[in-house]
Amino acid sequence: MNRSIKGLIFLQAIIFAAFSFAGNPVSLTPPGYAVASAHPLATEAGLKMLEKGGNAFDAAIAVSAVLGVVAPYHSGLGGGSYWLLYQARNQRYDFIDGREVAPLAATASMYQDKNGMAIPGLSLNGALAAAIPGHPAALAYVAAHYGRLPLSQSLEPAIILAEQGFPVDEQFYGFFQMSGRLEQLKKFKGSAAVFTHHGESFLPGEIFKQPDLAGTLRRIAKEGKKGFYEGETAEKLVDAVRREGGIWTLDDLKKYNIKLRRPLVGHYHQMRVITAPPSSAGGIALLTMLNVLSCFPLDSIPEIERIHYIIESMRMAFWQRDEFLGDPDFVNIPLRTLLSMNNAVFLSKKIKKNQATDSQSLDASGDALPTRRHTTHISIIDSEGNRVALTQTLNYIFGSSLVAEGTGVLLNDEMDDFSMKTGVKNVFGIVGSEANRIAPGKRPLSSMTPTFLEMPERVAIVGTPGGSRIPTMVLLAALEFYRSHGAISMVSAMRFHHQYLPDELQFEPETFSKTTQDALKAMGYLLKPLKQYYGDMQAVSWEQKSQILTAASDPRHIGLAISKTSKAVGYGVAY
Ligand code: DON
Repeated sequence: MNRSIKGLIFLQAIIFAAFSFAGNPVSLTPPGYAVASAHPLATEAGLKMLEKGGNAFDAAIAVSAVLGVVAPYHSGLGGGSYWLLYQARNQRYDFIDGREVAPLAATASMYQDKNGMAIPGLSLNGALAAAIPGHPAALAYVAAHYGRLPLSQSLEPAIILAEQGFPVDEQFYGFFQMSGRLEQLKKFKGSAAVFTHHGESFLPGEIFKQPDLAGTLRRIAKEGKKGFYEGETAEKLVDAVRREGGIWTLDDLKKYNIKLRRPLVGHYHQMRVITAPPSSAGGIALLTMLNVLSCFPLDSIPEIERIHYIIESMRMAFWQRDEFLGDPDFVNIPLRTLLSMNNAVFLSKKIKKNQATDSQSLDASGDALPTRRHTTHISIIDSEGNRVALTQTLNYIFGSSLVAEGTGVLLNDEMDDFSMKTGVKNVFGIVGSEANRIAPGKRPLSSMTPTFLEMPERVAIVGTPGGSRIPTMVLLAALEFYRSHGAISMVSAMRFHHQYLPDELQFEPETFSKTTQDALKAMGYLLKPLKQYYGDMQAVSWEQKSQILTAASDPRHIGLAISKTSKAVGYGVAY
């Protein structure tokens, strides 16, 4: 979305609770609650749950389900999700891995022709691209183990929006126009029935209804996980996939289970970082970058040197990324070694002062620039202090483009996050590695990085879509937070990215001044100015002493962040 328009509406929220800033003891509970998501209707649904007596987990379910209805190009029941959760009652951190898995009939060479060449598009479009969804199971699990409200209540806003419809917004319309996905969607009867209107895309303002999706949501609301993975929904899903040449079976769906994992925990000076473990590669990348940066005196050097070390930490983390990473249930990941300070010192020694490292001088294969992937993130805190950082995805925009007829469920194309073949790049330029090769029931490697940041008296919840740029965006946000800034600065900070290969420094418009660009060139960086902004970060921050609770939605898109206390509502404020 046009940034200046967004600047005008500036949907960020901040609350200054009526407490004095100094002399207060650290509060263990926030002065209210806050929700940040990538769509106003979703944020409103989350607030509604909190107002009804639900907790952050109920709110997350409502927000998540509404996002699947009003922004179906990003995420939904046909995809997967990672949930980082904190329960204030017992100070417990959990990570729910609702990532999709490869069907049981999947093989390592399923996207290669008989000569062993990767077949373009096969892992991206249509039935063969879709992995077994994990998101519905995660929704049901979170409701049963963390929520306070029944799914019939937390899914209600999504059911109503699917049934009664909502006006198509500019972002929705824009994705049809820009992505070329409309033609792809039209190829499938089930998708055309949902997403087109007399053969054309819906126009902004037209009412978009999804009655079949409402039916599927109702079955989940009534029967929980079984409402999706067994019975009527499962049969319709499998029929639709197989009709289009896919390999799903009822057994695939019945056997799907979320994984409860231990989040990764690291430190950057006195900042504690709680983040996504494998099957994501994102948390490891984030902690590696922070570990490398802690080897340099970042706070006391000139800004240009600071930028140089940050870029180099990105290069180093991406150099190591993917080499060892895959589904932890299938491959042994040397986690301790990767996250050790020994590794950070080893990497930091390769970084020269005032000189860009040549990626070619680092001997390993790396990955290249991914573009135009789609996904969405939610950050929530409730008044008890429970927290949720949830990133959910269908992978590419509109996933596989296949809506399973009769279910309204748009299926993912997460199979493309696997390596098609060792050494071969996927559509986004990610080089396939052995550890991430396809196997039945295996989870494809992800970059999603839902994260909590904790300083002695401050807490933040953060995450974003953006493919391989996710960990570097979260890194820049974490460094903002470490420098005493809150959610608004975290989501607004200008972004730059390096991922080892291609050996270039990408950055958003208006990020570096001419002087800084000249200095970076002089250090040997190949500058790659981007024409567009990227990411759609959602963040919440809470200062426990001053009781400032801030929620912020990325100004680059249409999201809405609201922070509410008994005293006031912070909503679209730009004083
Ligand atoms: O799991 C992953 O890493 C990808 N499927 C996420 C894609 C993504 O973030 C796209 N965002 N624009």
